[in-house]
Amino acid sequence: MSMIIRPRRLRGNAMLRKMVCETYVLPDQLIQPVFITHGKAIKEEISAMPGQFRFSVDKIGAEAMEIWNAGIHAMLLFGIPEKKDDKASGAYAKDGIVQRAIPAIKEAAPDMYVITDVCLCEYMSHGHCGIVADGQRIDNDSTLELLARSAVSQAKSGADMVAPSDMMDGRVAAIREALDNEGFAGTPIMSYAAKYASCFYGPFRDAAKGAPQFGDRKTYQMDPPNVREAIKEVKLDIAEGADIVMVKPALAYLDVIARVRDVVDVPVAAYSVSGEYSMIKAAAKNGWIDEKRAILETLTAIKRAGADIIITYFAKDVANLL
Ligand code: PBG
Repeated sequence: MSMIIRPRRLRGNAMLRKMVCETYVLPDQLIQPVFITHGKAIKEEISAMPGQFRFSVDKIGAEAMEIWNAGIHAMLLFGIPEKKDDKASGAYAKDGIVQRAIPAIKEAAPDMYVITDVCLCEYMSHGHCGIVADGQRIDNDSTLELLARSAVSQAKSGADMVAPSDMMDGRVAAIREALDNEGFAGTPIMSYAAKYASCFYGPFRDAAKGAPQFGDRKTYQMDPPNVREAIKEVKLDIAEGADIVMVKPALAYLDVIARVRDVVDVPVAAYSVSGEYSMIKAAAKNGWIDEKRAILETLTAIKRAGADIIITYFAKDVANLL
């Protein structure tokens, strides 16, 4: 049989396969999300996310050290306050959960790169990402000031980067201006630019105790069928000053990641969300898939699609596999 081109020649042994490998997942480009809760001496497992915990501020330092020692050098913080109200006061309180967690992390792991999620939903009694007007409408423009205040307050507490996830229009510009006015011109913004109204956030809402009390997030998060709209969103955020744009979720939106990678020249991040984590955990627990291989294969797919940075709950656990 005369066959000049035989693709299998390059799959013949492990050394060769590594030599022609096109995609690498690097620990330096992974970000570990963590949940910080009120109270003391708390490390409680999140039932919908086995292996993930809520830590109180006094426990987060030890966890930061573990994450650092595992080889992951960036964390994304979510706060769960004791009291929620209709102004999200806890999001920008000087002694808020995240504001206190940052110095605790820096004390334990001084070089840890600390990124803060900028959103109001965890701090709002109604669980929405913005101010509710007329008892039902999520008001865009009045929300911007609170988001900007939250970002500045986090930067003052030592955040290295802020990551707005609320999906209000104009929030990147509002946050950029506020940071610059307060002396934080050097603090980068990673915007959740194309964030879809996804069912894959289900376990997160259990973790952060932040499900909306009425309605849903469809008037501000994106509709899953749309991809042109994602391009519009990322371009707008870049024009407003976003340094990094994010696509979220990751696995069901690999095409969006690829399209965004093609049209922008800033780094692209992908958030492999709670539901993606829990699906792998659940299937592995049942013996239906090999957990380690499933994690590596999905992270590789997200990279291959074009993401530079991946936010993943598996970060700490996979660093040593990479
Ligand atoms: C807050 C926020 C959410 C997530 C990140 N930031 C929840 C939501 O929008 O409902 C989801 C993260 C995950 O599922 O892992 N707005």
